[in-house]
Amino acid sequence: MMLRAFTAALCAPGVIGAIFAQGEQQQQAPLLAAADDSMAGAKVVTHEAHPHHSLSFTAHSVDDATTSSSDDKTPNILDVCPGATNGYTGYLNSGSKHFYFAYFESRASPKDDPLVMWINGGPGCSSMTGLLMELGPCAIDDGGESAHENKDSWINAANVFSWTSQLVGTFAASEDIYAFMQLWYKAFPDSRSLPFSIAGESYGGHYIPVFASHINDMNKISPPELQIPLESVLIGNGIFADTVQASSSYDISCTNVTGIGPILKDGPCKKMAASVPRCEYLMKACEDYPDPIVCKGAYDFCGSELQNPYFHSGRNFYDVSKPCVGPLCYPIMKSITTFLRRDNVRKAFGVNPDTPKFEACSDKVGDEFRRVNDGLIDTRPFVARLLHSDIRVLIYVGTYDWICNFVGNERVFGSLPWKGLADFRYQQENNKQVWEGGLWWESGMLRYVRINGAGHMVPFDKPKHAINMFSAWLNKKPLV
Ligand SMILES: *[C@@H]1O[C@H](CO)[C@@H](O)[C@H](O)[C@H]1NC(C)=O
Repeated sequence: MMLRAFTAALCAPGVIGAIFAQGEQQQQAPLLAAADDSMAGAKVVTHEAHPHHSLSFTAHSVDDATTSSSDDKTPNILDVCPGATNGYTGYLNSGSKHFYFAYFESRASPKDDPLVMWINGGPGCSSMTGLLMELGPCAIDDGGESAHENKDSWINAANVFSWTSQLVGTFAASEDIYAFMQLWYKAFPDSRSLPFSIAGESYGGHYIPVFASHINDMNKISPPELQIPLESVLIGNGIFADTVQASSSYDISCTNVTGIGPILKDGPCKKMAASVPRCEYLMKACEDYPDPIVCKGAYDFCGSELQNPYFHSGRNFYDVSKPCVGPLCYPIMKSITTFLRRDNVRKAFGVNPDTPKFEACSDKVGDEFRRVNDGLIDTRPFVARLLHSDIRVLIYVGTYDWICNFVGNERVFGSLPWKGLADFRYQQENNKQVWEGGLWWESGMLRYVRINGAGHMVPFDKPKHAINMFSAWLNKKPLV
């Protein structure tokens, strides 16, 4: 959970290389009503309030599947991604930065279903991994030569964007996200009537509260026609405050909170137990004085004493029930990389030909976040502000994750300073409810969900539970 472990290892996915202006693409029939006729065939949208940004996009239509070769060079999205729906792929452009996105409309009722932006963690890792490993329309076959339909995709219940990560830290990125949304609504004004949520995992615990707070702040000073209908955020296995979550690697490694523990042996665990108090007070010092020199000492100590023993155990950092095999501990990650490097896949997904070959994570982006000490940002106050603005917050956590685990998440939300804390604690102690995936409780705008036996990437491990939880949340229903 340390920043270091975290960025070295992932805490999951960001960058489809994303990084160049949009090339010439075949424009197919747009599915959302564009703002006016003159825009119907447009590939680039600009906005006077956001002069440094533009949106370029290409439509993909699954209706053309049989005639996909009208332009021989552009395979139909269905050819490479069975289960895909109509949508768009493209880039938010800002100076030399180009952020890739992919959008798939809902399989249910695109005109009425909510709009959800999905952002993976990282920092510096590609949301394409989330799309293809967790919740997108298709999942990759072993070897990466082909894909199959994902029947439990989150597009069953919502219109979903997948967004790549950003270059200069969480706060700067929130400006890009805001500009993106305004450009999107300019291109597709009808979608402004759909409730909007931001979802993500892992380092999303950093991004999402900040992005959502920025949108909420901007809404307060914007006329109604420019407001973004932000309704909720969803954060899976998130990192909110290293200082609170750091020592929880001990609980996962050395106790039986997971039900399959302890993972490490008595000897190292005794040593780790002795280090927990020191890690905690050093982290408290970092929290009180968030000076990189103080924090580096804390991170170094907690990292070497509480994280390294697990790192060296050969276990998967994201799932204590599995060995660490392959890049980022998952063999499928290699297949996803193979898949996304294929020419026809790049074309079908609207990737600019100049874009470098796909990397699941970008060291350059990760380094940039480290340089600005992004990991030291404590995002709890941002979550509290969302709750106080009546924006709903769903925290869901797979219990087998080690790196951003449920023990740390429950410490964060069991002490989050907001008006509902006392009742939330009451619910947590006395009124946990059972659902098919595990336990959950809630108070007011805050819902907390455990998914038993899922690792860091909940929709990958428990796809049915994940889509049921997602759908219930969007529909404001209890979990059953
Ligand atoms: C851990 O917990 C599980 C589930 O409660 C139990 O079946 C198992 O025996 C426990 N393991 C140890 C070592 O106590």
